[in-house]
Order: sequence, then C-alpha cells, then structure tokens
Amino acid sequence: MATQTAVKKLACVTGGSGFVSALLVKRLLEKGYAVNTTVRDPANKTKVSHLVDLQGLGELKLYQADLTDEGSFDEAISGCDIVFHVATPVHFQSKDPENDMIKPAIQGTLNVLKSCMKAKTVKRVVLTSSAAAVSINQLTGTGHVVDEECWSDVEFLSSEKPPTWGYPVSKTLAEKAAWKFAEENKLDLITVIPVLMAGRSLTKDVPSSTSLAMALLTGNEFLINGLKGMQLISGSISMAHVDDVCQAHIFLAENESASGRFICCPINTCVTELAKFLSKRYPQYKVPTDFSDFPAAPKLSISSEKLIKAGFTFKYGIEEIYDETVEYFKSVGLLAE
Ligand SMILES: NC(=O)c1ccc[n+]([C@@H]2O[C@H](COP(=O)([O-])OP(=O)(O)OC[C@H]3O[C@@H](n4cnc5c(N)ncnc54)[C@H](OP(=O)(O)O)[C@@H]3O)[C@@H](O)[C@H]2O)c1
Repeated sequence: MATQTAVKKLACVTGGSGFVSALLVKRLLEKGYAVNTTVRDPANKTKVSHLVDLQGLGELKLYQADLTDEGSFDEAISGCDIVFHVATPVHFQSKDPENDMIKPAIQGTLNVLKSCMKAKTVKRVVLTSSAAAVSINQLTGTGHVVDEECWSDVEFLSSEKPPTWGYPVSKTLAEKAAWKFAEENKLDLITVIPVLMAGRSLTKDVPSSTSLAMALLTGNEFLINGLKGMQLISGSISMAHVDDVCQAHIFLAENESASGRFICCPINTCVTELAKFLSKRYPQYKVPTDFSDFPAAPKLSISSEKLIKAGFTFKYGIEEIYDETVEYFKSVGLLAE
C-alpha cells in the first residue's frame, strides 16, 4: 500500500524582520507549517539573519515585498492557505504621519488583501491590528471596559494631534479598510488586537515596544514620558507577552468557528501601579515611584473575554513577562546584571 505524505499547510507572514513576525514564523515552523515571509530588503543581514537561522527549523522562504508597491506580495502569497498580515509602517517621530504611516498602512493592507484574492488558495487572513485602534476615546472617569465593538476616535486624533497620533489613526483606518475589503470580496478575515508587547526578541534590533515596556527599569526619561503619554492617550498601560500574541494568531487561524475581531490583552495596569510592582520585584534598579501628579488608576481596561471564551489561554502573567524581558535586556547590555 502506498504511504500518504501529509501536505504541509503553507502560511505567509508579512514583515519577517519585525518583532512579532519573527516569533510567529518560528512558532509556525515548529507546528509543521511551510512558511513564506516577506522583508523589504533581503540583502540587509542585520534584518534577516534570524530568519536565515530559522530556516534550520523547516521550510522557510524569504521574499522581497514593500507595502507601498501594488502586486509586491503576489509571489509570497501565491499558493498559501493562510496569510498573517503583520507588517505595518512604524515611525513614531514622523513629521509627516499622513505619508509615513497612514497612507502606506491602508494601501499596504489593501495590497496584501488583493494578493490574497489573486492567489485563490487563501482560506483565511489574520490581520494584526492594535489596541491603538480600539481604546482611544474621550471618555472621562475610570472603570470603562473596551471590547471588540470599540473603535478609536479618529476625528479627535486627527484634529487634536496628540503625540504619536499618526500611529493609532493608521491602525484604525487600515483595520477598517480591511473589513470593508473583506466584506466586499467575501474574504475570510480575522483581526487580532494586541496591546503593548514585551518578551525576548529573535531580531538583532531591540524592539521599540520592549524598550517602552522597560522604561521604568532602564530609567530612560524620554521613554518614561512615552509611557505616561500612552496612559494619558489610551487610558491604560495594557500589556501582553509576544509569545501569547503569536499563539493567539495561530489559534485564531486554525479555529474554524472564530470570526471578527479579537482583543489580545491579559494585563491592564497604569504607570503608578506598574512602578510599584517593578520597584518591589527588582529593587536593584531604583525604579521611580513618585507619580503623585498622575492618575493613580487606569481609565479603562481592554477586555479579552471574547478570545478567552473562544478557548484561548494566556501563558504569561506580568511577573513572567518582566522576568523574561529583564533577562533579555541584561543579555543585550541594556540593563546592568
Ligand atoms: N509591538 C507592540 O507592542 C505592538 C502592539 C500592538 C500592535 N502591534 C502590531 O503588531 C504588528 C507587528 O509589530 P512589531 O512590534 O513586530 O513591529 P516592528 O518590529 O516594527 O515590525 C514592523 C514590520 O513591518 C515592516 N514594514 C514597515 N514598513 C513596511 C513597508 N513599507 N513595506 C513592507 N514592510 C514594512 C518592517 O520592515 P523593516 O524591518 O524593513 O522596517 C517590520 O518587519 C504591527 O502591525 C503592529 O501595529 C504591535
């Protein structure tokens, strides 16, 4: 009797040089998927060396693609069963957010979705959105709960232009454009809405989100102000481990009955509470704890009830997230032993 070899599922992950995509590629290879990933510059050794290392784990191919080039993703997506669209332009300091973030995020998302339609093999697209697309509102007081029904207030962001406003606008409009395209073209789309991520990165560069999460430990004043700004604009400091977020992407790709948006957020806190926790757990790093001029509680909590009800379990709590990220920062010389 002839032996049957199981055909591997082929997944595409956009932006393999990034923090989340790198680990997602690794987890997919470990699960037996064949993976195509895209990078903007395959010749940039710093950006692709971790992917070359991952080729030892299974079938991983690298493709050149840019969000701003229509058709750029056709080759990488051709023949794929599942597409994870993770890449997004990130330029927090941009003086021209419209052209540096907002337009390329929307156009890039539509370019990727058009390539999925052309392929005719793609059964589901999982798009990485962000809490920045749900939690920014003008509510006052505390105790608000943000769920998948919520969208960030683009009108407020575009008129008031608080620091880094272009990023939440880009994430909100790109996700909305994806939903419109999916409905018009009957494409099976899921969006994952993660919060600030930390954990060890496979990439050579230290991800900006880990530096922000670690600001109170490294003492970087600019980033401490960034963390305070995040709480003032978003209403909380909400966090997840990058591995939980990657596992949630795969869980949702494989769970046939899943549909719609899924918030991925196990921890809601604020600067004051976080500083107290970090100061107690890592007394050797002299964490500043005097934030008496600052709200003592988060304005809102971002709820993952839908994801948990669908059967997903978070593996990492705040202790595990910080213990691992502290070790990571020590290993790259950003924290003293
Ligand atoms: N990290 C977080 O805390 C966090 C929280 C919520 C949501 N998210 C979302 O999660 C996703 C991944 O974030 P991340 O932290 O992994 O970000 P990241 O490390 O900055 O990675 C972003 C990726 O997008 C790629 N990219 C940017 N502009 C591009 C363009 N024009 N064409 C093609 N690729 C382009 C980058 O490629 P290059 O390397 O060539 O620049 C990089 O691979 C994003 O959608 C982000 O909005 C992240």
